[in-house]
Amino acid sequence: MLLALFLIGKGKVNNKVIFEKMVAAGFNDIVGGGDPVDIGQSNIDVMDNMLEIVPGMKVLDFGCGCGRVALPILERIGDAGRLVGVDIIPELIQFCQDEIKALHPNSDFYQLNAKNSHYKKWTKDQLAGINQIDELSEIPESGFDLIFAFSVFTHLGIADSKKYLEQLSKLLGRNGKLVISALFINESSRRGVRNNTASVPFSPRKIEKRRDVYFCTVRDKLGGVGYREESFIEMAAGAGLEPSRIYYGEWPGRVGRLCGHDVIVLERGIPDLPKDFDAKAYVANYKDLDWDAATEEGRARAERHYVRNGYFEGRRWD
Ligand SMILES: C[S@@+](CC[C@H](N)C(=O)[O-])C[C@H]1O[C@@H](n2cnc3c(N)ncnc32)[C@H](O)[C@@H]1O
Repeated sequence: MLLALFLIGKGKVNNKVIFEKMVAAGFNDIVGGGDPVDIGQSNIDVMDNMLEIVPGMKVLDFGCGCGRVALPILERIGDAGRLVGVDIIPELIQFCQDEIKALHPNSDFYQLNAKNSHYKKWTKDQLAGINQIDELSEIPESGFDLIFAFSVFTHLGIADSKKYLEQLSKLLGRNGKLVISALFINESSRRGVRNNTASVPFSPRKIEKRRDVYFCTVRDKLGGVGYREESFIEMAAGAGLEPSRIYYGEWPGRVGRLCGHDVIVLERGIPDLPKDFDAKAYVANYKDLDWDAATEEGRARAERHYVRNGYFEGRRWD
């Protein structure tokens, strides 16, 4: 017991050093500034309010930045857990690899080769990264129990949001949960914008229009993006995702909330593998599946493909 307390304490102390380094290097400013410990913790608090975080979980932090949420979640999932972080800013990924992976070897960070006009200043040089997050389905920890994206969809246009919802949906494991923070435009947040209590400067005139997506600045469109709540849910449904919880944050002027943004939990029903599933016939039926289902690895890939994709696409093996 004493040893466990000592180890938990030690992890926190080491995390503190990393938090100090991220501030000193200016990385915390790139991802929005504020107190990185409080911001990371408030995201954990809101997840605790909506779902269970347990040791051993496999977690994907999409748009991980400099690891403000990765650090506290690594404490929670423990050594038996796995954390994968993805971001488009090479310097931040390098920092996470050098600092966080060194302390938590059960973490890995990948640079995604993608553009975002709000972050263009920091994405000029690319590392040898991945080109699509689909590529993560090849790594052993895919089939994630928990995927989260904090303050990421608040910087994505509609085409990217759709694409990432589809891709992230396919990376979820059985009973996996996808947690996304967003700025939902609904009656309550419109009231906040109208009454000037909102912390995000949406135009009170434009917010009254029935749009799918709202940008808070004209010159830097992706600086702050809001989605009409129903439109976002529809987009998620297109990716096979159903909302199970929504938590409304403080941003429109609500008080006493756990976090600034709104947070939605999305889930995807993943079927059992049918007893008569025939991996060889399944692979033979489709040109885009080129694995050798006679091998153990090929069979496992075919089975994984069926429960994650094939089932939803109506694919067959007869
Ligand atoms: C406001 S920061 C939040 C970082 C982190 N989630 C946090 O809460 O500290 C937004 C992050 O999203 C990343 N991002 C933007 N567009 C992205 C994309 N297309 N794919 C992955 N990450 C992206 C940015 O590089 C940035 O690190």
